[in-house]
Amino acid sequence: MNASPLNLEGAVAERYSQASQKPEAALCCPINYDARWLEVLPQELIERDYGCGDPSKWVREGDHVLDLGSGGGKICYIASQVVGENGSVTGIDMNDDMLALARQYQQEIAKNIGWDNVRFHKGKIQDLRLDLQQFEHWLQQNPATDANGWLRAEQHAEHLRKSEPMVADNSIDVVVSNCVLNLVNPDDRRQLFSELFRVLKPGGRAVISDIVSNQNVPTELQNDARLWSGCISGAFEDHEFIKAFQDAGLGKIEILDWQPEPWQVVEEIEFRSMTIRAWKPLGTGNETDAGQSAIYRGPWKEVVDDFGNVLLRGERMAITTGQMQEYEHAPYQEDLILLDEDGQPESAPASRHTRELPITDCCSPEDDCC
Ligand SMILES: C[S@@+](CC[C@H](N)C(=O)[O-])C[C@H]1O[C@@H](n2cnc3c(N)ncnc32)[C@H](O)[C@@H]1O
Repeated sequence: MNASPLNLEGAVAERYSQASQKPEAALCCPINYDARWLEVLPQELIERDYGCGDPSKWVREGDHVLDLGSGGGKICYIASQVVGENGSVTGIDMNDDMLALARQYQQEIAKNIGWDNVRFHKGKIQDLRLDLQQFEHWLQQNPATDANGWLRAEQHAEHLRKSEPMVADNSIDVVVSNCVLNLVNPDDRRQLFSELFRVLKPGGRAVISDIVSNQNVPTELQNDARLWSGCISGAFEDHEFIKAFQDAGLGKIEILDWQPEPWQVVEEIEFRSMTIRAWKPLGTGNETDAGQSAIYRGPWKEVVDDFGNVLLRGERMAITTGQMQEYEHAPYQEDLILLDEDGQPESAPASRHTRELPITDCCSPEDDCC
């Protein structure tokens, strides 16, 4: 079936409405979630999982989390437990049936967890200012029956974006998403990444699991609505995916997970799951030279940061105050020895060899390996 960008969005809406009612095996990519977070979830939500990775492994206590394309809400409910009652989780999805599924057990799950810190909103992830539920409410009172009505509705949508944005600027510690970005129309993808950047706090991070391809996907496959809505033909080419974060202004980009065996192979193109973490710079722009320096620990001979600064292994390199502020944070900190204006180590950072592991990589109390 060939489709225009408009039909692609319709195909995605139709496919996930059906998949919210009845599990669709073709949309499932097996993932090993940490079983202890699943105990509070009803089987229905566990079965209607259409993710391809587990970004929740990199969420931390106290985080304010935004889940793009939250579907049945599994990642939101896992994150809810990890962040604790001082954190919060917001799930965004454009599909009414998926939202209904996610909200169906909300009270029961909150009771099981012991706190209620999850909210779901109807919206498009490429337009995180507009709360579509609020807009729909206005449209019911002010139906658009002609072009003038449509123009008034557009004006009101713009008013809502400005006066009551669904997700505020600089408000989120970690944006997660599980198998959704590939479903967004190519024309909207630049805006999608710019929205992701906008909502993150300075120093915040994005942890995104998605399907990527190992080569460019030809147009005829992209126009196949079934392959598109099945999280296949809309896949970013792997290096283009990384570049999209970089182009949006995010840095310190890492591949956290890379599925060795492809999930699908179509016309010899491999489609696999990849999880990326990228950080929003603190952006202080402080160019002051306060006599601070950094020594890169290795093992590479030299490295270049996202601002073009080169660090040579084992050499004391003079850095600005702004650089120091960026380097003091994960994940740079563990690769560097940071020295103050007197040449004294700022603190003793953990080296990469002892770096923090994802929560699920830790041993359980009954194991005797830690
Ligand atoms: C493959 S499912 C993944 C659902 C969920 N993240 C999970 O792990 O099960 C894709 C979800 O993204 C939603 N979605 C797709 N495109 C979207 C968009 N542009 N804006 C908001 N939601 C979108 C769909 O409605 C669907 O619920």
